[in-house]
Amino acid sequence: MRVSIVVDGERVESDPEPRLLLAEWLRSIGRTGVHVGCDSSSCGACTVLVDDLAVKSCTIFTVQVAGRRVTTVHGLTPADGLSPIQQAFSDEHGLQCGFCTPGFVVAVEALLREKPDPSDDEIVEALEGNLCRCTGYLSIVHAVQRAARLRRGESASVVAGAGHETPLAVNTVQDRAVQENMSESEVV
Ligand code: FES
Ligand code: FES
Repeated sequence: MRVSIVVDGERVESDPEPRLLLAEWLRSIGRTGVHVGCDSSSCGACTVLVDDLAVKSCTIFTVQVAGRRVTTVHGLTPADGLSPIQQAFSDEHGLQCGFCTPGFVVAVEALLREKPDPSDDEIVEALEGNLCRCTGYLSIVHAVQRAARLRRGESASVVAGAGHETPLAVNTVQDRAVQENMSESEVV
């Protein structure tokens, strides 16, 4: 089926197999920042925006986004540096191996478009579909808070990790999710 999809602002014409997953198609056209970390729709590493909605691209077929706008982490990365979200992840140590990070960056973009000043609970809820094996999540929540401040034009000169009131339950809940949903063998 011939499809026309706007990917990261560029119109792409393609003829994908009907059952080709969007994640695989995006990687085949060079969007290798779209990571595939599981086969159970649980890790969120493949998250992209379809129009303004965060979607796990391993859960839909390419033909289902015909005529839509798809934005990957590539489209959210400035040519000359880091976006405020990426800078905040770096500043707050919101990544270690970085495998999960593209998915988080996209999911955070969707959150901050809808809620420029999210609460801790709203951040945790928005990112519950994204798993990270490395960070323990607290630094990711701090990174989102910092990114939100940056995007609102506020000073981000708060010492990394200081002054935050993230619920301790974040670690407990998310760590359990990692253990249950993402065994070692699922990471590719
Ligand atoms: Fe899509 Fe894990 S690769 S949720
Ligand atoms: Fe390694 Fe998140 S930084 S999985």
